[in-house]
Amino acid sequence: MFFQKKTEALSIDTSRLPKHIAIIMDGNGRWAAKRALPRQAGHKAGAEAFERLITDAKEMGIEHITVYAFSTENWKRSQEEISAIMDLMRYYLKNSFQRFLKDNVRMHIIGDISRLDEDIQNQIREVEEKSKAKNGMTVHIALNYGGRDELRRGIQQIAEKAANGLSPLEISEELIEAHLDTAGVPDPELVIRTSGETRISNFLLWQIAYSEFYFTDVLWPDFGKKDLEKAIYYYQNRERRFGGR
Ligand code: FPP
Repeated sequence: MFFQKKTEALSIDTSRLPKHIAIIMDGNGRWAAKRALPRQAGHKAGAEAFERLITDAKEMGIEHITVYAFSTENWKRSQEEISAIMDLMRYYLKNSFQRFLKDNVRMHIIGDISRLDEDIQNQIREVEEKSKAKNGMTVHIALNYGGRDELRRGIQQIAEKAANGLSPLEISEELIEAHLDTAGVPDPELVIRTSGETRISNFLLWQIAYSEFYFTDVLWPDFGKKDLEKAIYYYQNRERRFGGR
């Protein structure tokens, strides 16, 4: 566990960058409240911060970024707020995501999209189809995502295979990994959560077994390149032992 310290002149080793950074973009509501704006304005500013982050991370040479855009628990929010986040997603699918694709970025959605409106699902399928030809950085957007739900869906598929002859002895960690939404994606070495909260909130439960955690008080809409560099600097100054010595 870590809270940021004031660090000057950070020197990042570009040969030891994390391949995969996962981010819990928290604090949009508080950012808006501080400005006496509606929560939706916080999400709009949050989406803009997301767009800047992708550009910065791509320039730095990060291979995978996963962001928590909408959790399975976020349905408990007001209808007004849910609609605002979904409208933002519609806008980003049609605009920014198309620009990312032109820049050779692969877009991948994780989570159970079947609960989303039909037009959003269609737009996601189109973006993912276009992504097949891209081989640059991959951006994974967690939408109606929950770590437990992802495991439940994966286990359901494995159970179906077991009912059709798969031996329980064949259920290895590799087989479970292959049935997750992130199949084939390297585990995140670094998880960032903004806004001072230090919970994992059902994010990538299986994949974070050996991740380093970076917590910062910065509210998500204010998170910029300097903050990303601080997080990477922190990561590079940790010793990762994977349970060994
Ligand atoms: C958490 O802040 C943020 C969310 C639940 C939504 C995140 C959505 C976006 C950043 C916009 C859409 C993203 C993309 C990829 C286009 P909060 O509302 O919980 O903030 P609070 O804790 O201060 O209330």
